[in-house]
Amino acid sequence: PTTRYYEFNITQRNGSPDGFERTMLVVNNQFPGPLIECNIGDRIVVKVNNQLPDGQGTSIHWHGMFQTNTTWMDGTVGVTQCPIPPGESFTYNYTITEQRGTYWWHSHAKGQYTDGIVGPLIVHDPNEGFMNDYDEDIVVMISDWYHELSPISLAQYANADNTEGAEPVPENGLINGLNLFDCNGSTNSSIPCTGGTQANFTFVPGKRYRIRLINTGAFAEFDFSIDGHKLTVVEADGVAMKPVAIDRVPIQVAQRYSLIVEANQTVGNYWMRAIINQNCLAYTNDALNPVVLAAVHYEGANGTIPNSPDPGYSDPVDCVDLDPSDLKPVDGMDAPPYDVSYYIEASFQAIREDRIRYGYMNTTSWSPLQNTSTLQQANAGVTTFDTNTQFVLTPPDNATVVQLIIQNFDDGSHPFHLHGHTFWLLGTGAGYYASNTNLNTTNPVRRDTGTVPAFGYAIIRFIPHPGMWLFHCHLVWHHLMGLAMQIQYQPSVIRSFDVPQDWKNLCPS
Ligand code: C2O
Repeated sequence: PTTRYYEFNITQRNGSPDGFERTMLVVNNQFPGPLIECNIGDRIVVKVNNQLPDGQGTSIHWHGMFQTNTTWMDGTVGVTQCPIPPGESFTYNYTITEQRGTYWWHSHAKGQYTDGIVGPLIVHDPNEGFMNDYDEDIVVMISDWYHELSPISLAQYANADNTEGAEPVPENGLINGLNLFDCNGSTNSSIPCTGGTQANFTFVPGKRYRIRLINTGAFAEFDFSIDGHKLTVVEADGVAMKPVAIDRVPIQVAQRYSLIVEANQTVGNYWMRAIINQNCLAYTNDALNPVVLAAVHYEGANGTIPNSPDPGYSDPVDCVDLDPSDLKPVDGMDAPPYDVSYYIEASFQAIREDRIRYGYMNTTSWSPLQNTSTLQQANAGVTTFDTNTQFVLTPPDNATVVQLIIQNFDDGSHPFHLHGHTFWLLGTGAGYYASNTNLNTTNPVRRDTGTVPAFGYAIIRFIPHPGMWLFHCHLVWHHLMGLAMQIQYQPSVIRSFDVPQDWKNLCPS
């Protein structure tokens, strides 16, 4: 194993990913941010220098990393750390002991990742022969894109006039941080708008590519395809899957897939399509072109502009994951029986006279602690938390398998992410969960982000390990409105963790 060193300088600057200029937050002046790439077993050391303006603390979360025995490196403001203040630095340092596959990193402070603090994280396993049966990696990050800074969008969402709780609708979508934008649709002609450019990729005829597809967006689900090419799914959220060939892949916010694509078509140019599923948006924005395109250019083809015909896909009606029955983990691990099961209700409730709707997990609407974190408190011996804002679920120390039944009372679906773990997704359904519901315990899909359907439920199981782990809807607006809770496992072990002094120093004492 080796140690991989990186330095992240986080700054605010203007940028125009789609030609429309706005304020952005970026790492090393890049958008999307730099690729972290390593082998299983490696140590990752990232020195983060916060060069943002006053008042903007930050953090970096390593989405999907287990952080075994390093829960304090999880990078979650209010949960596993205090923000890194402007003008200061913090060094993340952790080992990737048992994971391989496709991950990403992003700010976990407020809505900052939506403003540009995102990048890919790829873990290779040279010994996993069957997964290395391809020629080259291609990272494809797809995301929705807003023309306002996230605090402005959030303020609109939280405005008392928004009685239905309609989430902000993006202005655009991006592939690897690029797209066109029709400047005529711009509402403010004083803002520079040049129309942007599309991303493009080169295929060498005969080669096999492993596309590392990552939805790094805030809210929109996408359908991904490449005209004329089959996509063979071999990985979901870091877990190797038995190969299944499909034409288009629905991908929710924060999910990842590895897709094997063979450059086996007539030498030419083809469209890669990432289509925003508008059925998942609160309303239709006529200015939004939901079809985000990038060019796939075969080496040796004439020109570069694709002429492949539009396959004429329509939006799927539901905002759900790729059918879990298509996803069978290669290692064939059945879901073990649970030691303890919890029933949790996720809802949005309008409260107070101003009718602002907040997200609730049971009776708690999460709001990150400001001058401490629940992990820091737990490490110092605190055992009870403010239940208005912190729902900390602590399974018994001897529970080796935990089950959660998530019942969703909202008209939107929620891609829930559990920090530090993958979970077995045993079943989802419409309506109320009933205990006689058929659960699939035979090698069900295992992943770190799975969708609880609108007005429906999902049942997950996981093997907890010591630490403080956020469990939340990854749709940024829902997360920021409180649709989050924490799993604390083995508080006595948390107290015994020898946390680094520079980590403690992030919190004002
Ligand atoms: Cu991608 Cu709470 O994380």
